[in-house]
Amino acid sequence: MTTVLGIETSCDETAAAVVVDGRDVRSNVVASQVDLHRKYGGVVPEIASRAHIECLDRVVREAMETAATGPEDIDLVAVTQRPGLVGSLLIGLTTAKTLSWVWGRPLVYVDHVLAHACSPAIGLEEPPWPAIALIVSGGHSSLYEIRGFDAIQRLGTTTDDAAGEAFDKVATILGLGYPGGPAIEQMARIGDPAAIAFPRTLLGPDSLDFSFSGIKTAVLYHVHGPGRTQGGLERLSRQDIADIAASFQAAVVDVLVRKTMRAVGQRHANAVVLGGGVAANKVLRQALAEACEERRLAFHAAPMEYCGDNGAMIAALGYHLYLRGERADLAADAQAH
Ligand code: KG4
Ligand code: ZN
Repeated sequence: MTTVLGIETSCDETAAAVVVDGRDVRSNVVASQVDLHRKYGGVVPEIASRAHIECLDRVVREAMETAATGPEDIDLVAVTQRPGLVGSLLIGLTTAKTLSWVWGRPLVYVDHVLAHACSPAIGLEEPPWPAIALIVSGGHSSLYEIRGFDAIQRLGTTTDDAAGEAFDKVATILGLGYPGGPAIEQMARIGDPAAIAFPRTLLGPDSLDFSFSGIKTAVLYHVHGPGRTQGGLERLSRQDIADIAASFQAAVVDVLVRKTMRAVGQRHANAVVLGGGVAANKVLRQALAEACEERRLAFHAAPMEYCGDNGAMIAALGYHLYLRGERADLAADAQAH
């Protein structure tokens, strides 16, 4: 039995978790900074790192207390080393290095996006690999082929905005506030997804890359008028806004599902997994589940609590990397990319 403390501070969530053997989550504590960043309409890096400093000790303590583990029970420390905001990453990294050093326990570094990719495996008896993974978050939209925890190949990624970033920007255009994903999803519930035919950018016929800046601009011009960037929102009713939100969401989900199925076809896969902050979107979960069912593919979405940034996915992937012999170099630094 290997008990792992996972620490995640790459963006605006301060998170720590205790996970046994990569799948049994004993605690998963996430302190969100959303309220601190809301008035700026996005994450302010300096505010994020300061907030991590202020609350990481408490979050780690709470994760260990909830799991009823003391330092002597922890076998391994896992921490996000990349990618993310460098100042934010540094707080988690320094804390993890210090705990590993003081407790005399090994340390492993984890890639945040790969942790999202492996998050659908948490709680499963058997890992769902081989599988195609669609990972959609605020900073990333990528497709991977996963053959094992240490055999992950990227098949495609975004050429401009990430899916979550598009949700956030469109929510700002529609005056729905921050963070945009949950706000759009809620507004879309009363809207008509077929009201407006927003563009579906599929790039080349074999491309597994994504591009969401076109649809964001289409929403901008739809709201304000062609070529205009302001002045149109006041003319829209609540129902108009709901229709735009629903049509935008439908277009993004359509592209994500079609590209994932394209990857399945190209790689002859028979399983699909979904992770990342945008994976919390119920319309996306449902659409991907249906597409998989039609083609008789196995489908595993990350459980809701492991979609957004969290320490459990870091501890889980950290455990598997440790089993495969990975050890952190204490001299290594945080990496933004
Ligand atoms: O994975 P995450 O917590 O942070 C990053 O690693 O980026 O993802 C955050 C992103 C934000 O862009 C947020 O708007 C989006 O996930 N998001 C959603 C939903 N919940 C969060 N997007 C669409 N629908 C949601 N329900
Ligand atoms: Zn993330």
